[in-house]
Amino acid sequence: MILLAVMVSGQVAAAAEDLSVFHPVSQPASSIRDLFYLVLAITGAIFLLVEGMLIYAAVRYRRRAAANAQKAEPEPAQIYGSPPLEVAWTVAPLLIVFVLFLVVVRSVVEAQQANDDPPALRLQVIGHQWWWEIVYPGEQPEQTMRTANEIHVPASGDGQPARIEIELLSADLIHSFWVPRLAGKTDLIPGRSNRMWFTSDEPGIFFGQCAEFCGTQHANMKLRVVAEPREEFDRWLQNEKQPAADVPSAAAGRTKFLSLSCVNCHTVRGTTARGTVGPDLTHLMSRRTLAAGTVENDHDHLRQWIADPDSLKPGSEMPDLRLSPADVDSVVEFLESLQ
Ligand code: CUA
Repeated sequence: MILLAVMVSGQVAAAAEDLSVFHPVSQPASSIRDLFYLVLAITGAIFLLVEGMLIYAAVRYRRRAAANAQKAEPEPAQIYGSPPLEVAWTVAPLLIVFVLFLVVVRSVVEAQQANDDPPALRLQVIGHQWWWEIVYPGEQPEQTMRTANEIHVPASGDGQPARIEIELLSADLIHSFWVPRLAGKTDLIPGRSNRMWFTSDEPGIFFGQCAEFCGTQHANMKLRVVAEPREEFDRWLQNEKQPAADVPSAAAGRTKFLSLSCVNCHTVRGTTARGTVGPDLTHLMSRRTLAAGTVENDHDHLRQWIADPDSLKPGSEMPDLRLSPADVDSVVEFLESLQ
C-alpha cells in the first residue's frame, strides 16, 4: 500500500517538480532504482511465501465448528527437531542475505566510483541556510564564477557520458544534496569535503531539494539542475563569466544599490559590491527563480522579495532593509539589468 502510494505520488509529481526516484535519467540514479526493484522482488517473494504459509496453516488447522469440538480432538504428532529442515531454513536466508549484500556493495562501489577519466565538469556546491552556492572554478582565481540554486551542466551527447563531479561543502550546518532523478543523497558537512557525481543522459531541468533538516526554511531550500547540450551550456557559462554590464538606463538604480547595505552580503562582479554572505547577483536575471526556488524570478516577486523578504520566505536570512517604495524600484531596476 505504502509503495503504491509512493508510486502514485511519483506519477502526480511528474507533472510539476518531478522528485521521483522512479524516473531516473542518469547514473547513478538508474542503478539505485534497479537495486530497489531487485531488493523489492526478493523481499516481496519472501513476504508472500511466509504470509501464504501462515494463512494456509491458520485456515487449514483452525479449530473446527462447535459440533466437532464436543469430542476431544486427537493430539497432533509431536515433532522434536528436524535436522534437514533446520539446515534449510538457516542456509536459505544466509544465501539470500549474501546475494543482497553483494548487489548492494556493487551498487555502492559504482555510485562512489573514482573514475580515472577527467570529468566533463568539476563544481563546488556550498550549502547555506537556505540556499545553494555553486562555484565554477576558473584557471585563475579571478575567473572563478559563482551562482546560486540553479546548476547548469552539460548533458551527455553523442553517446559520450558527460560526468559531472561535485565537491560538497557547507557554510553553516549539515545539509543534504538530493536530485532524485540524477543521484542519491550526499550530505554537505561543515569542515568536511564530500564528493559525488552524476551524468545526465538527456537535457532537461531536474529538481532537487535539501534532504537534511536544517532549520526554518529547509523545505524551501530547493535546487534545479539545468542539463543542456554542450554548446548551450558553453554559451551560458561564457555569459556568466562576464562582469555585470553597465547598463546606462539602470545607472541610478546601480548607484542606489551600491549605497545600500546590500553590498555587505552580495557580490555583483564589476562593481564595488563584494559581499559573500548571500548569493552572487552578477547575472541574477539568468536565473529562473528567487529565494532558492521558492518563487519565479519575475518583476513582482523581485519587488516583494526586496521590500519584505519574510512575506515570501519567513525566517529567511535576507533582511528587510525597510526601503522606501522608490528605493525598492531603483534597486529592482538595477537588478533587472543583470542579465
Ligand atoms: Cu539545507 Cu535542509
